[in-house]
Amino acid sequence: MIERNNQDLEPVIQSDDSVDTSEELVFEDSLRPGNFRDYIGQDQIKKALQLAITAATQRSEPIDHVLLYGPPGLGKTTLAHVIANEMKQPIKITSGPAIERAADLASLLTNLEEGDILFIDEIHRLPRTVEEILYPAMEDYVIDIMLGKGPSAQSLRLDLPKFTLVGATTRFGALSGPMRDRFGLVHRLEYYTPEQIEKIIARSAKILDISIDSDSLKQMSYRTRLTPRIANRLIKRVRDYAQVHGDGTVDKDILYNTLELLDIDEYGLERADRKIIQTIVDQYGGGPVGVAAIAAATGEERQTIEDVYEPYLIQIGFLQRSHRGRVVTEKAYTHLGVEPPAKNNQKNLL
Ligand SMILES: Nc1ncnc2c1ncn2[C@@H]1O[C@H](COP(=O)(O)OP(=O)(O)OP(=O)(O)O)[C@@H](O)[C@H]1O
Ligand SMILES: [Mg+2]
Repeated sequence: MIERNNQDLEPVIQSDDSVDTSEELVFEDSLRPGNFRDYIGQDQIKKALQLAITAATQRSEPIDHVLLYGPPGLGKTTLAHVIANEMKQPIKITSGPAIERAADLASLLTNLEEGDILFIDEIHRLPRTVEEILYPAMEDYVIDIMLGKGPSAQSLRLDLPKFTLVGATTRFGALSGPMRDRFGLVHRLEYYTPEQIEKIIARSAKILDISIDSDSLKQMSYRTRLTPRIANRLIKRVRDYAQVHGDGTVDKDILYNTLELLDIDEYGLERADRKIIQTIVDQYGGGPVGVAAIAAATGEERQTIEDVYEPYLIQIGFLQRSHRGRVVTEKAYTHLGVEPPAKNNQKNLL
């Protein structure tokens, strides 16, 4: 069990014992693996972290700062909790946008205790002035505080307890170089394999007491964008369908009916994903086209396209990035049931 920490720090948006009763969060919490054994996949990352944790524990030191990045829903926050649990240390949770001023971060840091895990989600959104406080804190466990203003202002250096910062971001590229350099362990979370997703679904189904046959389990795994959060969300919907229209057991009929209802296709794509590729095909001849233009044409935010939709479309080979913009592939044309443009044309464009 991890130690509870009741200290109420302003910029900490959620301490480990906070109670959030919103259904989605309670549901996510109940399915969130708490240790490496239950955390499926991401084997390389787990190995590296386990080694770092074992070595640090032997030396009675906190582990090096950890940066986790990758598309949403792949398990960054979960992994931060796992690290804290495995280190048997309390975790304090905050996020980049929640820390507005340097003083917010200073109060947060000075309230830490030796060995604490400080988790900063969306770390790329820390204001620059706040980031500058973090550099010496991460490197030398000190902060410099300015007392007073104007010519009489004095700088006071405070020692901090040795803590571990775990940062998470969907946008590695938006982090400043000095920030990245101060993390000793930097890991990119990858999409899961269908087999790993199957295991995640089976685990969640067991926790939620849902009976699902192995074939449906397999079919389901392909329609989750290889993302645990989406897999868990789909289980929830399938469970609803099975409860209302069946006897509670999930079979292929239940699964396919639910997928149809949710408009999820055999690649796990939803309407918004298809709209993006369809728009590039219809309005831009398959590309290349810049993300800003795609955003304007689809009504989606540019950031959402880059962080949420695009990585998976690229992963399944529906979209390619070129120096002149995004290009829809032949595979995507086939999926849309549209004749691809003459091959020579597209090659020239790439
Ligand atoms: N490796 C895993 N094994 C089993 N379940 C997992 C795994 N990774 C994530 N999950 C499940 O997926 C859900 C979403 O994961 P998590 O919140 O950690 O994603 P995230 O990467 O932090 O996403 P975001 O970028 O949106 O913050 C968790 O509640 C958990 O139940
Ligand atoms: Mg998260």
